[in-house]
This record gives sequence, structure tokens and C-alpha cells, in this order.
Amino acid sequence: MSVITTIDDLKRIYERRVPRMFYDYAESGSWTEQTFRENSSDFQDLRLRQRVAVDMTGRSTATQMIGQDVAMPVALAPVGLTGMQHADGEMKAARAAEKFGVPFTLSTMSINSIEDVASYTSKPFWFQLYTMKDTDYVSRLIQRAKDAGCSALVITLDLQILGQRHKDLKNGLSAPPKLTPRTIANLMTKWAWGIEMLSARRREFGNIVGHVEGISDASSLGAWAGEQFDPALDWGKVEKIMEQWGGKVILKGILDAEDARMAAKLGADAIVVSNHGGRQLDGALSSIRMLPSILDAVGGDVEVHMDGGIRSGQDVLKAVALGAKGTYIGRAFVYGLGAMGQQGVTRALEVIHKELDISMALCGERSVNDLSRSNLLIPEDFEGRWRN
Ligand code: GLV
Repeated sequence: MSVITTIDDLKRIYERRVPRMFYDYAESGSWTEQTFRENSSDFQDLRLRQRVAVDMTGRSTATQMIGQDVAMPVALAPVGLTGMQHADGEMKAARAAEKFGVPFTLSTMSINSIEDVASYTSKPFWFQLYTMKDTDYVSRLIQRAKDAGCSALVITLDLQILGQRHKDLKNGLSAPPKLTPRTIANLMTKWAWGIEMLSARRREFGNIVGHVEGISDASSLGAWAGEQFDPALDWGKVEKIMEQWGGKVILKGILDAEDARMAAKLGADAIVVSNHGGRQLDGALSSIRMLPSILDAVGGDVEVHMDGGIRSGQDVLKAVALGAKGTYIGRAFVYGLGAMGQQGVTRALEVIHKELDISMALCGERSVNDLSRSNLLIPEDFEGRWRN
């Protein structure tokens, strides 16, 4: 195997190894995919200030997110269907994250259940909640996350209804994959994936199947989201869920200063500046471009995290230097997982850590906690001259 030095190396192996339907699921944005693309490409507009003759010994990327120690300001984002990218994918990614010392966030729409992940890890993980019309089911999910010792609830606010991703519809995305001539032809070229999948603990949505009755199609994310997600979610409901949980809460999917103020007012422990990886409102601005104005609005009142487009440690550095207290990687760890299982997630984290550490040193900083806007060259029009 060739030497893996970048997240892109993992992506190439991932693309060869995993059935097309799941590769496409991860690699899609909604509609034209403009926001998906710009989430990554907009990082390139920020440049780094090279500083020299600074003692670079004793560097550290360690910091805290919501008061919890992290080896670097990078958490694993909740990603639906992760257990279809690799057998027992959520369990393996969670274990890689725990060993590395970064938080793992389990998606409601995961394949491994909350209990599977808890049985495979020894430290608390975070649980991401989609709010459903069935409030009893939501209460049971919250209770299950409490019983599993989850140390934060990440409430997603930007997916009451699902944005359209063309490829998923064309591929007939489902878990497990439905066997059609096209999927069979593709699966036959992915035999290593298939053999491992035969002994996976689960091949269906583990937090759902067996926990809810009367679902017409529990194998389709689209059908489930359309039938069950709560389109009536509003700030009042968010507040009730926060009360019900009673622990640390991260509100994810904020891309607007006014929404950020609302989230801060509700007393969230952190917000995640996010457009759901460009998978929801195509045409929205990238997370990194929106980050400064949201920090200006609420940076003093609530911890601000961001996700979207991070494919390197330099991207992490830029987000943190702008003022984010933490970042999340989704696709970057999924590439590693699909390519090489747990070891691949570890590799992805190592790649990002090394890029962050060396870039930080070359910027003349020894600690991520000292990074600031003064490490960056920010174009005057970085936030754009948009009017509304
Ligand atoms: C959410 O689960 C998504 O597919 O973006």
C-alpha cells in the first residue's frame, strides 16, 4: 500500500473499496453542490502568517471543547449510515476517537446503536439528536443516551426536512442496500467490504429498527426523515429538549447571527456553525465564511464550533485562529473508515494532527490556545459584501 500522507490518499482507497451508493451518500451536497464545494474551497482564501525564530519546543494541540479535554480541537461529526461505510463503522470510529483523545458524535441515523457504541468504548461519547414527531420515541432516545453515559447532546437544527441529493435518489440509497441488477453489479466489485459486512453486528438503522413501530420503510433515510422528522421544530421545542436532557447541549446547524443569538439565549454550551456539509440549503455561504460574523455576534456568550469543508490540519488551524473553539470532521474520517476501518480513522486523525502541529509551529505558535486572527491574512472582503 502506498504511503498515506493526506486525507485525499484515504479518499482514493475509500472510493475503490466501498459500494458506490455509500460513497455517493457521503460525497454529495444538495442540488448544485455549490455550498458543499465552497465549504472546502473557501478555506484557501485565508492565508497563514509565517513567523520565524520562535522557540518551537514543547508544542501542544491539546485544549478543551465544552469543558472536556481534547487532544486537538477536532471532534468526529455525526454522520448517518457510518456503519455502511465499514462493518461496525460507528463502533470502530468511536474507538479510534477515544484512543486519540477526541470526541466522537453518534448520529441518530447510525447503523450501530447507542448501546453498541457504549459497549465498545470506555469513555463517554456525544449523541446527536434528530427531533421526531413521535415525542415518546424522542424521550426514549434521550433516556438511552443518558443510560449510555453520553456526555453531550448535539441537537441538529438544520434538518427538519431533508435537502435533495440527486445521487441518493438515483441510487435508491438504503441500509442495507436493496439488491437490484445495478447494485449487485457494483457490490460484486466490493467483495472485501461485503465479506466484512456479513459479520457486522448490524446492517440496519440501529437506533430505530426494533425501537419504533409502524414505519413503512425503515431502510431508507429519505423515507424515514420525510415521515418522522419534526417539521414543526422551533426554539420552544428545542428548549424543552434541552430541559429534558439536563446535561451539556451543543446546537448544530447555525449559519446566521440571529439564530446564533437565539441559541446563546437558550443557554447552549456550544453552537456549531454549520450548513450540514452543504447537504441541506445549497446556495448558503460556506461555514468558514460565516464563522467571523457569528463569532462577532455571540463569541463572548457561547462557545462557537464549526464544521464543513475541513480536510486538513491547516483548515482546523484557520478555523481556530478565526476564533472557533472546536471543529468537526465528517467526510475526512469517513474516508479513513471506508478505506481501512478503525486504523483508517486513526490515520485520518494523525494526518490532521500532524498538519495542525507543524503549521502551528511554522506560524510561530506553540499552543492551539494561543492561535488568533493575528496568525492569519484575511482578505478584506472575506465575509463578502452580501446584502439582505
Ligand atoms: C443526514 O443524516 C444526512 O444525510 O445529511
